[in-house]
Amino acid sequence: MTMDLVLTTHFGNDRYRHAETYERLGGYAAMRKALSMPKEEIVAEVRKANLRGRGGAGFPAGVKWGFLPKDLSRPRILVINADEGEPGTFKDRLIMTKGPHLLIEGIVITGYALSIHNAYVYIRGEFVRETDIVQEAIDEAYAKGYLGKNILGSGFDLEATVHRGAGAYICGEETSLINSLEGKRGWPRVKPPFPASVGAFGLPTIVNNVETIADVPWIITHGGEKFASLGVEKDGGTRLVCVSGPVKKPGVYELPVGISLRSIIFEHAGGMQDGKTLKAVIPGGSSTPVLRADQIDVGYDIESMQKIGTMAGSGGVIVIPEGTCMVRALSVLMNFYAHESCGQCTPCREGCGWLAKIMRRIENGEGSEGDVELILDLCDNMMGRTICPLADAAVMPAQSFIWKFRDEFDRHIRDKKCPYGNRF
Ligand SMILES: Cc1cc2nc3c(=O)[nH]c(=O)nc-3n(C[C@H](O)[C@H](O)[C@H](O)COP(=O)(O)O)c2cc1C
Ligand code: SF4
Repeated sequence: MTMDLVLTTHFGNDRYRHAETYERLGGYAAMRKALSMPKEEIVAEVRKANLRGRGGAGFPAGVKWGFLPKDLSRPRILVINADEGEPGTFKDRLIMTKGPHLLIEGIVITGYALSIHNAYVYIRGEFVRETDIVQEAIDEAYAKGYLGKNILGSGFDLEATVHRGAGAYICGEETSLINSLEGKRGWPRVKPPFPASVGAFGLPTIVNNVETIADVPWIITHGGEKFASLGVEKDGGTRLVCVSGPVKKPGVYELPVGISLRSIIFEHAGGMQDGKTLKAVIPGGSSTPVLRADQIDVGYDIESMQKIGTMAGSGGVIVIPEGTCMVRALSVLMNFYAHESCGQCTPCREGCGWLAKIMRRIENGEGSEGDVELILDLCDNMMGRTICPLADAAVMPAQSFIWKFRDEFDRHIRDKKCPYGNRF
């Protein structure tokens, strides 16, 4: 079956990350086209494309762009979220290393459409190579007149700056990222005001994920309707799906939105490694509710996943084989969230800490009757009660692991040991 690819067609070509090759293969034609289009038409195409944010929440990009104030007297800012901190997700780094000009071209088109003259690419601190490659591509774009003053004689100016984070999961949350960009501690801000009205440096700001913006050139070249037609209703295009765990071919796959989760795992990623059977799947990065093996006949799109109580999130499919202790797996996850909580809100700071602590004692065979209820009670007191969704991101795996694998928790408490010998 041949599939339309939006992003990865040329990712096998090592020179594609350079402007010359990118252009030879059709790059920057969308930007040239966009610079001669009315700005509203570009936004309209992105709306028609049903492009949903690829950073996790899945908010429609064109709709978010429409939240910018009409008043152009204050400068606006575009921030590209290249923090990629969600465990299980490793696709933005692929775009940054294999096709950074897709991102830059997307930035120029978006900047032009939204009358933005300053863009920041906020890159996770650990991504040293990614930063170097993106910076090199930005330098090439400046040298070719695709960034800077009077881009290709259009009268449009755009400066693009790379900003490195220091490697905190919470800095991927958009308001925390904005604080970090301003040189402050990476603490989330209370919303409202939303970044589109008060964002970076107090200015109206759009924060979008790398993949979201890298999709924009294709939309301008082929039209919003064509992009929409690759996916499903209200969720267009393709997605970069990251598959990890004991499958035969782990990696990143560009697939049409709405493809079944079964097909992602058993066709594209080659199925389970020899001798292993599927037990569970975390479908969209570590904070998305876990699915049992019998729940994978579902479309990988935002609404279908929602219908079965989970999320496509940031595209990180984590495959869990039989033999894995789900108590141990959840314990590892809870440790992560306790470590990454910024500490501003009591339900998150204390709640994540307690979830990790209770999980550790259950895992070690030291849990008591009532511990599982205690976890569920803590979850109820955390969900939706904090400044940002990090607390929810810890609660969703905790609840879903218990709801779907309750017997494993009970056995640890009753038998005072791990039935799997604590293997992970
Ligand atoms: C704790 C936390 C971490 C996040 N990390 C990322 C991230 O690494 N990359 C990302 O694009 N979005 C991340 N997000 C989502 C962003 O807040 C925001 O929704 C996204 O960047 C918007 O871009 P999009 O609309 O293009 O998806 C995170 C959200 C939370 C709550
Ligand atoms: S929910 Fe957690 S991470 Fe988010 S602001 Fe509150 S304490 Fe910080």
